Amino acid sequence: MSMPGTGVLVLAAGKGTRMKSETPKVLLRLLDEPLLYYPLRATDAPDFSGRAVVVGHGSKTVSQYLQNAWPGTEVVVQQEQLGTGHAVFTARKWVSRFERVMIIPGDVPMITGETLTRLNSRHLEACEDCTFLVFEPSDPTGYGRVLDTEKGFRIVEEKDAREHEKKCGRVNSGIYIFNTGPLLEQLENIGRDNSQGEFYLTDVIHNLCEEGKRVGIMVCPDPDEMEGVNDPLQLDRVSRIMRRRILDHHMKNGLKCVDSETVWIGPGVSIGDDVTVEPFVQVWGRSDIGSRSRLGSYSIVRNSILGENVHLSGHVVICDSRAGDNSVLGPFTYVRDGSELGEGAFAGKFVEIKKSRIGEGAKVPHLSYIGDATVGKGSNIGAGTITCNYDGERKNPTSIGEGCFVGSDTMFVAPVSLGDRSYTAAGSVITKDVPAESLAIGRAKQKNIEGWARRKRKPDGGGE
Ligand code: UD1
Ligand code: MG
Repeated sequence: MSMPGTGVLVLAAGKGTRMKSETPKVLLRLLDEPLLYYPLRATDAPDFSGRAVVVGHGSKTVSQYLQNAWPGTEVVVQQEQLGTGHAVFTARKWVSRFERVMIIPGDVPMITGETLTRLNSRHLEACEDCTFLVFEPSDPTGYGRVLDTEKGFRIVEEKDAREHEKKCGRVNSGIYIFNTGPLLEQLENIGRDNSQGEFYLTDVIHNLCEEGKRVGIMVCPDPDEMEGVNDPLQLDRVSRIMRRRILDHHMKNGLKCVDSETVWIGPGVSIGDDVTVEPFVQVWGRSDIGSRSRLGSYSIVRNSILGENVHLSGHVVICDSRAGDNSVLGPFTYVRDGSELGEGAFAGKFVEIKKSRIGEGAKVPHLSYIGDATVGKGSNIGAGTITCNYDGERKNPTSIGEGCFVGSDTMFVAPVSLGDRSYTAAGSVITKDVPAESLAIGRAKQKNIEGWARRKRKPDGGGE
């Protein structure tokens, strides 16, 4: 029994030999997301009623990625890569659940959801058995040429094409919608009698035409969208186009770039109103930048949430963390592993904050390591303060209360706590909990040896 609606089948089993990489091609990164992210995002629409990916090379790691990032997407393993027709044939059981199937290669990341939705509607309106996307690139080399025949179309691969066929500028995008009945029937009939010895999905189209089935094409007006990624140069080209596309989108919504040529923003980032980005900034993953924030030069924001009016004053790296409204970070600050800075907090020069919460208005201005710690509201952490959180086996917590004043160069030997409104003397090594409202001094007493320097200058002890 076929389900109503259109299923999406992404073909991603190929090796990607030309990438010369150990990593399976579809996991290579484009603006910090795996290539496979892009077709999945483009098909994350209600028009589609199910989705599966055909995996092969590196199937374990690819499946793992899918499980983590796209739960609900099914996986079909193609053990041997015998061609695109064989890939679909391997998934025939899954395909047969749907009335129609949209087939997309995993290496065409520029494709947009709008184009796919249009293809779907066109297919339904025209009542075709197969509708596929074609385009006219400036250089058709490498693509399958879409030739007209008496009964419809025939696609001939570059490697099988005769000279006059190569002159055809209209090429196959590798994106199709088929009614599953005729597709599955024809998949049984294709052979591998071609220069690559592969089962070509494209032969199904020719067969359908010969059978008198309705096959239509839709021309994609923007050839950039169809750009495939087969080698590092194409990856670079696509990366530039994609980078621009994302930046243009944000700038149309008010993002200001001091120099947009040197800014990189990933596809999963959201940005509030009136944000300014200085040169050489990177924002990746699921990051969210609050309105009126300013990202200073050489900052990297990854999977992090910045509140409103946050100022990264330059060279700030913030990963998997949050910075509250009006907080200020940098220059030269590293915040990571689920840290949280409260509203109006400050983390300054050469400060690392790991898995810690810095309370509202608290300040860590200089040269500190704060790990596995909480710092209460309004506390001030003196320069050079370190939480000694690691005892060689475990990471231990430090708790610093509200309104505390931590003297410069304090070592907190965790686990340890400092009560609210307490002080530590500069240079203290704090090994015991400090009650609220106290001063903790944990340093050697100073002794002055008078005349010592003078005596050192006269080694014979010279008579007075
Ligand atoms: C294919 C088309 C070609 C089209 C081009 C557009 C065929 C025969 N040719 O050629 O007409 O112009 O795409 O980019 O379909 N794959 C599998 N299993 C396999 C083989 C391939 O999953 O056994 C996957 C690959 O991982 C890739 C996609 O299918 O994502 C396309 O395969 P690829 O080998 O890149 O085909 P092209 O030569 O690019
Ligand atoms: Mg390809």
